[in-house]
Amino acid sequence: MTRKDDIRGAYKQLGKSASIYDGMMTCTTTLGTAISRIVWGIGPEKNAAYLDWVFEQIPEGFAGSLLEVPVGTGVLTMPLYATLPDAQVTCLDYSADMMARAQGRAAGMGLVNIDFRQGDVGALPFADESFDVVLSMNGFHAFPDKEAAYAETYRVLKPGGTFCGCFFVEGEFARTDWFINKFYVRKGFFTPPFETRESLTRRLTSTYSSARVTCFNSIACFSCVK
Ligand SMILES: C[S@@+](CC[C@H](N)C(=O)[O-])C[C@H]1O[C@@H](n2cnc3c(N)ncnc32)[C@H](O)[C@@H]1O
Repeated sequence: MTRKDDIRGAYKQLGKSASIYDGMMTCTTTLGTAISRIVWGIGPEKNAAYLDWVFEQIPEGFAGSLLEVPVGTGVLTMPLYATLPDAQVTCLDYSADMMARAQGRAAGMGLVNIDFRQGDVGALPFADESFDVVLSMNGFHAFPDKEAAYAETYRVLKPGGTFCGCFFVEGEFARTDWFINKFYVRKGFFTPPFETRESLTRRLTSTYSSARVTCFNSIACFSCVK
């Protein structure tokens, strides 16, 4: 089994035993997969493809310091961390409830190299240049102060470190744009203004080197180096 298979197998297990949200994020429950297909036009294969793209930005055997913000329920990344026992991982989220689930998962999987912190991405409680990698999965479309979030994730990354992750961008898949504006924004799950593929590429290129952006329907996956 490859590392990719290990990670996919684990998040499928986690997704099946959890909420609608987790089932949707992992495309592992009937309801979650149906929602993902309807809202995002994404089924299990494309879901796995975008997660693989992001996780491949973190080298196998990575043993440095990694900040994940926001960790949410940890359904996507705890399986990744199970493959990185020598990394020093810090996970942060504003919601103590979401993060409690991630903590429970980490404990259930016997992961001992993860430190959990409740906090705001717009005011990260870490010194400048603390992390080798900053990973942000599905967060920037939710963060209320995106400029502060970009500034803080840049500040805590070491020179030469990698900033990578994924989030919703508008203008790529019309059906998703409609659902986001009609429901997700009104419910407060997502907060405009949203990036487009072009604006995100411009932003990362002007701040970082080696910037890459690839879209899977409306989900932009990105990687760049400070
Ligand atoms: C869509 S979830 C993504 C969670 C996880 N990364 C995933 O992909 O499943 C968005 C998360 O952003 C968190 N969040 C929203 N605003 C935040 C802020 N200002 N600082 C830190 N986390 C925040 C929410 O609590 C929520 O857990």
